[in-house]
Amino acid sequence: MIGIFDSGIGGLTVVKALMEHLSGYDIIYFGDTARTPYGTKSSETVKKYALENTEFLLSKGAKIIVIACNTASSVATESVVENFDIPIFEVITPAVELSINTSHKLCIGIIGTRATVKSGIYEKKIKEMNTQSRIYSKACPLLVPLVEEGWLKKPETKMIVKKYLHPLKVRQIDTLILGCTHYPLLKNIIQKKIGKKVNVIDSSIAVASNVKAFLEKHQEVDALLSKKGRCSFFVSDVTEQFKKTATSMLRRDIHLEHVKI
Ligand code: DGL
Repeated sequence: MIGIFDSGIGGLTVVKALMEHLSGYDIIYFGDTARTPYGTKSSETVKKYALENTEFLLSKGAKIIVIACNTASSVATESVVENFDIPIFEVITPAVELSINTSHKLCIGIIGTRATVKSGIYEKKIKEMNTQSRIYSKACPLLVPLVEEGWLKKPETKMIVKKYLHPLKVRQIDTLILGCTHYPLLKNIIQKKIGKKVNVIDSSIAVASNVKAFLEKHQEVDALLSKKGRCSFFVSDVTEQFKKTATSMLRRDIHLEHVKI
């Protein structure tokens, strides 16, 4: 099974992308709905949660782990990799690689939670790959609650997106990384506000193609993964909102299992 975890609901964008890229692979998802959001917490706390989430998914039979949460990917990947001897994927590197490979001006914008932006991880990785790049980042703390409320097309959301993107727009970025699980759900508004010439990078798609490429190359790992098209969803707190959003995002009936972490 492919194990995926997120602070809550947003990681379902990664589940969706994985289902499209690796159809038939069994997936086990854990959404830490009781302890969400991660984006406002300290890195120590997020690291602790990430280790517990990984432990849980392994206990359920996951053979590889995808850290779908950008915040956890930013601050906790190293700890997870150090503590578990299995392939671990995070969402930052694939998005950075894609942005470097497709950007013409190497003028790259990043939006994410406060914790992700504060970690400076995108800047660090982009600079490691290309020292010439100019990078501008902006924390957008209001976007997660707006998405969770289902305010995907409200005028208020459009206005807030516009305000957040303004400093990146004036820098004339040519590439924008959506550095948060929730932002792909606002992709249309974001694209409109940043301008249609800007290449908007969805890290959920980037990580899914990265996992696919890895499994094609590492047949021994691929052989460990069951492929019966099953998908199970665990959450640390069962909420109606999760059920509703999960069902509409994945366009299938979702059975949620409660787990105490
Ligand atoms: N999953 C988080 C991320 O991608 C967003 C929600 C949260 O703050 O927990 O950064």
